[in-house]
Amino acid sequence: MDKLWKGRFSKETDSKVNDFNSSFRFDCRMWREDIEGSMAHAEMLGKCGIISQSDSERIIEGLERIKKDIESGKLQFDSNAEDIHTFIETELTAQIGEAGKKLHTARSRNDQTATDLRLYLRREIEEIQELLHDLRVTVCAVADEHENTIMPGYTHLQRAQPVTFASHLDAYAAMFWRDDDRLDDVIGRMMKLCPLGCAALAGTTYPIDREMTAESLGFKYPCVNTLDGVSDRDFCIEIVSALAIIMMHLSRFSEEIILWCSWEFRFIELDDAYATGSSIMPQKKNPDIAELVRGKAARVFADLQTLLVMMKGLPLAYNKDMQEDKEAIFDAVDTVKMCLEVFAPMLATMTVNKARMREAAAQGFINATDCADYLVKKGMAFRDAYKITGELVALCIEKNTDLENLPLDEYKGKSGLFSEDIFEAIRLETCVRNRIGKD
Ligand code: ARG
Repeated sequence: MDKLWKGRFSKETDSKVNDFNSSFRFDCRMWREDIEGSMAHAEMLGKCGIISQSDSERIIEGLERIKKDIESGKLQFDSNAEDIHTFIETELTAQIGEAGKKLHTARSRNDQTATDLRLYLRREIEEIQELLHDLRVTVCAVADEHENTIMPGYTHLQRAQPVTFASHLDAYAAMFWRDDDRLDDVIGRMMKLCPLGCAALAGTTYPIDREMTAESLGFKYPCVNTLDGVSDRDFCIEIVSALAIIMMHLSRFSEEIILWCSWEFRFIELDDAYATGSSIMPQKKNPDIAELVRGKAARVFADLQTLLVMMKGLPLAYNKDMQEDKEAIFDAVDTVKMCLEVFAPMLATMTVNKARMREAAAQGFINATDCADYLVKKGMAFRDAYKITGELVALCIEKNTDLENLPLDEYKGKSGLFSEDIFEAIRLETCVRNRIGKD
């Protein structure tokens, strides 16, 4: 395939340089958006009289055909192409002749890339938001079944106070809701300003209508500063930041799943379809999905690092370094999608061992705060109530019992405020029911 820029050059590009320079193997995935952007551009060129109406129509029809041919597999990608933009333009000219050569009037690959990438990410992020929504629905459905399932709540991974499994899961639903909201913000900002028409860096001398292309591609306005338009990759960094936060949330959840299905906890059991075995230890059932999600968080954090470091030293405007944005952001998008796709069904199919959760909650004096609160409600200052309860816990440890089974006389020995109703006050169910603001 001839280079678009061959006029200035008298030699062919070295074949290794060709491969090194080419972004086609990864940016070919933006073919739909490249065609969409070119159609909008061609229509505008025709309307503004920059090319003839008939050339504009010929270009749009040609692009339409290329789209169908790629979809049907009739048109195969040429791995020698420099990038997707070159491939489509060259193919168009091969198919429709002279008119095809006019498509790139008043445009550069710099504004074209910046536009295509935004359009591509808008579509991918919509899919991620759908997957996040499905995950939230699953988490809430499991939570609904466990409004009365009592488990230990932890701080420092030490049993702290009783909670319901529903509350614990709802915490993750809240995180995933914020993740979705964050993506709305980022995509809203990304789609505010359209870079098409910034051309290489300094705009164009043709009387283009940038409002028209911006609107037809779903942007609010054309971007204001053309140098910024072609060299801004903040939107990629914001998206990968939002994706990194999703992975951080998924990774925390994974860590809990891994703990919960250990024999030490045995709070849940994963479905056989969502766990794996060992090649040597016949008894093993491993939570590989959760471990991989936790591991893959590292990739997405690294993608964010790639983008930040890639951009930090670049002078204005476009620099070829910026071609490196795509592999990082595509990897982040693909990884998050993959993780979300397996995570929701893994949760939906797990078995929850309510009895084990209840049993774990009944150990470790997790109703001690409620015992202190009982005294406070009877008129004692919290700090005194705290001290007396601490002494009762120490007594339980000494007598190898728990607060529920400690005789009332022992309570009365510490404070005359204790009476028979202490046992109702420290029942786990009472503790959970009486806490306000837990959901
Ligand atoms: N493939 C390039 C990229 O993704 C776009 C081409 C711009 N190239 C150029 N030499 N101005 O960044």
